[in-house]
Amino acid sequence: MNPVKHVAIIMDGNGRWGVKHKKSRNAGHRAGLNTVDIIINQCIHNKIQVLTLYAFSSENWKRPKNEIIFLFKLLENFLKKKINKIIEKDIKLKFIGEINKLPIKLQKLIKLSEKKTINKKSLQVNIALNYGSKVELINTIKKIKQKKIKLNEKNIDQNLYTRHLPDPDMLIRTGNTHRLSNFLLWQLSYTEIFFEKKLWPDFKGKDFNKILNKFKNIKRNFGSI
Ligand code: FPP
Repeated sequence: MNPVKHVAIIMDGNGRWGVKHKKSRNAGHRAGLNTVDIIINQCIHNKIQVLTLYAFSSENWKRPKNEIIFLFKLLENFLKKKINKIIEKDIKLKFIGEINKLPIKLQKLIKLSEKKTINKKSLQVNIALNYGSKVELINTIKKIKQKKIKLNEKNIDQNLYTRHLPDPDMLIRTGNTHRLSNFLLWQLSYTEIFFEKKLWPDFKGKDFNKILNKFKNIKRNFGSI
C-alpha cells in the first residue's frame, strides 16, 4: 500500500498564469482544470486514497464578481461534463466548506454529484469550496457543545468536515507562495509541506511524482526521535 494515503493541494497561480500568457486570469483558471484531471489520474495510478483540493476559500469572495461567477460556472461545467467519467473511474466526490452559502444551482449539482458517487472506492476527491479552516473549527466546537460531549482531540477529529479520513500526509502548494491560507489548519498539524515554484496550470504528473519520491525519503517522527 502507498504510505501516502491523503494528499492536500493548494492550487495556486492560475491568475498569474493567465496574465503571463497574455490572457485573462479566468483563462488561467480554465487551464488549471487540466492539471486537476492530471493529478486525479496520478492519485489513482499511485493508489492514493484521498485528494483534497482547495478550489475556493471563504476569503475568495473578496475577488472581482466576474471572477467568482466564472469559477462557479467552471465548476458547474466540470461536474456536468465529467460526472460520468468520475463514476467510471470509481471516484467518490465530497465537497467541504459552507456549501449552503453557494448559488442554489451549484448546491443542487454538488448534492447530486455526491449522491451519485457515494459508494465509489478507488479515490475520494474532496473539493474545498467556500472553505475556511477557522470557520470549520468554530462549527466543530459548536457541534461538540450541542452534542454535550467532551471538548478533546478525538471529538474535534470526529466532528470536522474531514471526519473518518486520515489527516493529509503531504500538502503541496504551487505558485511559489509559502503560506497556508486558512486551509485545514487542524488537520495539517503533522503534514509534510512541499512548496512548488511552478504555477498550477504548469504543474504536471512528473512534478507530482517527484514530490511523492521526496516524501518517501522523509522520516516522519510525529514528535518522537
Ligand atoms: C488560485 O489561483 C486558484 C483558485 C482560487 C481556484 C482554483 C480552481 C480551479 C483550478 C478550478 C477548480 C476546479 C475543480 C474541479 C477542483 P489564484 O487565482 O490565486 O492565482 P494567482 O495567485 O496567480 O492570482
